[in-house]
Amino acid sequence: MKKKYINVGLIGYGTVGKGVVKILGENKKIVLRKVGKPICIKSICDLKPIDKPELYVKNFRDIIKDPEIDLIVELIGGYEPARTVIIESLKAGKNVVSANKAVLAKYWDQIFTTAQIYQKSIYYEASVGGVIPVVQGLSEGLASEEVFEIKGILNGTTNFILSEMKKHCVPYEEALKSAQKAGYAEANPSFDVDGIDTANKLAILASLAWGSWIKVKNIPLVKGIADLDIEDILITQDFGYDVKLIGSAQKTKDGIDMSVQPCLINYDHAFTTVENEYNAIMITGKDSGDVLFYGKGAGQQPAASAVVSDIINLSKSIITNTVGIIPDVVYDSKKKIKILPIGKSKSPYYLRFAVIDKAGVLSKISGILAEFKVSIARSLAQLNINGTDYGRIIIITHETHLEDLEKALKQINATKSIVKHKTVKIKIEV
Ligand code: HSE
Repeated sequence: MKKKYINVGLIGYGTVGKGVVKILGENKKIVLRKVGKPICIKSICDLKPIDKPELYVKNFRDIIKDPEIDLIVELIGGYEPARTVIIESLKAGKNVVSANKAVLAKYWDQIFTTAQIYQKSIYYEASVGGVIPVVQGLSEGLASEEVFEIKGILNGTTNFILSEMKKHCVPYEEALKSAQKAGYAEANPSFDVDGIDTANKLAILASLAWGSWIKVKNIPLVKGIADLDIEDILITQDFGYDVKLIGSAQKTKDGIDMSVQPCLINYDHAFTTVENEYNAIMITGKDSGDVLFYGKGAGQQPAASAVVSDIINLSKSIITNTVGIIPDVVYDSKKKIKILPIGKSKSPYYLRFAVIDKAGVLSKISGILAEFKVSIARSLAQLNINGTDYGRIIIITHETHLEDLEKALKQINATKSIVKHKTVKIKIEV
């Protein structure tokens, strides 16, 4: 029997869920033109009763077992019951749309193996980069590419905070409050500001690019923005750099060099124009060269827009009976990708030494750096700041192995007669 419409069951009616209902309501004509049939929300499940009592369902399993529902949209967030919803839906023969990066990154294998066994699809565009079609871009637009590198500003909240710090010259804590007021940062902002959200998104993109499940726990360095000092943001501006939280994964002959950390970006790089809640992702392929994706990475409507696009695209496969014939994510569960140990990662660095202003400090620091093969590209000494004995020495290094730099810094930091507190170190992206 031919389908007259596509029935959707929505599980999780928070900010994004409400946005999805709004867009499906407002863009009915666009949907009809693209799918050829209307898309209807048949049921909505949430913990609390909702503003549409006629659609409300208390138990998500009632949606999963409803034979009239074609497609389930999981917008709960977190690990459970989101994972259960996705797995049980696929097993019950439903197709799934999800925006849940945490659950996808953690249960990649289970989710895509289940989808393959039950010949169903799961679309998850909104899980990475909000409205930016980077999942589709990578898996379809760049399907032919051998990917060399993925580099991105993948978290809108932290990018908003960094923009606020720069714009108003305020410390991190104050900028975080503005992000909370603007509705980007959660009351407990750890998932965003500690880099975990970026790590999840990077793991998803890297798994897609290299056909293997790259686990978040195997990313050797995940560092957020919480201890960034406004002093360093201002100093590095004078050196021609902007600070961004970057997730990057780059193929090297010894493994994938992967990290999440605040980085300095040269002012002539496109990433420095990415402000506030915007995200950008640069994918570099063998034949494509650099491909840049840009757009709103956080916020209700951008995320909801990506979810609705997934619903539309999935509905087309449901109508044409082509869902799951060829798996959407193909990967070899036995293929292990080597990740480069972080110490072997090579980069230039910005260093700020808080020094005691006395004879020989500069030569002592440069001597220890040289001992560990860390070569200096530029330096600036500002001593006797505001008439005190506090001074700072800024050093920009040439490319160095992180392990060599860390050994040198350990020795310098332990020399209490020259440094006042721990040296600040920020990677420079090249
Ligand atoms: N908390 C996320 C961010 C939302 O700030 O980017 C979108 O994934």
